[in-house]
Amino acid sequence: MGFFKIFDLDHGNDPGAANGANRYIPITILDANAIRRESAQTGDAIGQIVEEKSQQITAVLTQEVDGDLHDTLAYAIREILRNAVEHSHSDCVRFCAQLYPRMDRVEVVILDKGRGILPSFAMNPFVDPSTDREAINISLMPGVSGTAFKGSKINTRTDDWKNSGYGLYMTNRICRMGGDFFIGSNSAGVLLEDGKKIDYRFHHQGTLLRLTIKPSRVANLKSRLLEFSEQGKASATRLRGTVLHPSTASHMLTVDYQDS
Ligand SMILES: Nc1ncnc2c1ncn2[C@@H]1O[C@H](COP(=O)(O)OP(=O)(O)OP(=O)(O)O)[C@@H](O)[C@H]1O
Ligand SMILES: [Mg+2]
Repeated sequence: MGFFKIFDLDHGNDPGAANGANRYIPITILDANAIRRESAQTGDAIGQIVEEKSQQITAVLTQEVDGDLHDTLAYAIREILRNAVEHSHSDCVRFCAQLYPRMDRVEVVILDKGRGILPSFAMNPFVDPSTDREAINISLMPGVSGTAFKGSKINTRTDDWKNSGYGLYMTNRICRMGGDFFIGSNSAGVLLEDGKKIDYRFHHQGTLLRLTIKPSRVANLKSRLLEFSEQGKASATRLRGTVLHPSTASHMLTVDYQDS
């Protein structure tokens, strides 16, 4: 799947050269600048362009074009790819994925080599993380965004694709239905499982996510998404207008969502 050549060892396929049959996507490099250019030229939102890619990836993994598993994966992959293009400033995004039907497991890894999450919050006056770990904890909160906050320019947009700070929150809730969610950015990593949060040291310039989803647990996607977004909105309302302290974010991740 391009594993060796991605770190310059002359063995096997180039990244993206394997054909990705059998429910796996080989290591693939997406040109983030080309997507940004396409968005600027056509007026299509980055989310819309990335939606198509995410549908294609999901169709290879699930061998389906609709259904709960397809929709769940397409949603989660789109949100993470979109974040990398919208927030990382990275030239490209790398990803790979595999569905293991007998293990009832799908794994997706998406990474960028951009600025990382901490600097992405520099413009938001309602959050003030000082470490990579604090920034990650904050990024996972519902309604918290580096671009969309009270008084920000993006909040004046009216289209469906404007940021609202829910992508990482909804995605981690989906993964925690029987799977797990890892996010690492620059020096810190956080693994969220149902009822558990484990902090890791991490070393990667940029941001990496590994989503693990349990296909047998993703039934009734629409009602679960609605439930998560309602719980998220209730938390966001409690937080609105206050300066979100990093330790509050960490505490909420550990405690508040345990009964998901
Ligand atoms: N790959 C990334 N690189 C840098 N910063 C990121 C990355 N992914 C997320 N972030 C930061 O984390 C914040 C929260 O991400 P999240 O996806 O939850 O919300 P959003 O992208 O702002 O809004 P929405 O997903 O609702 O459109 C982002 O606003 C950004 O500041
Ligand atoms: Mg997002």
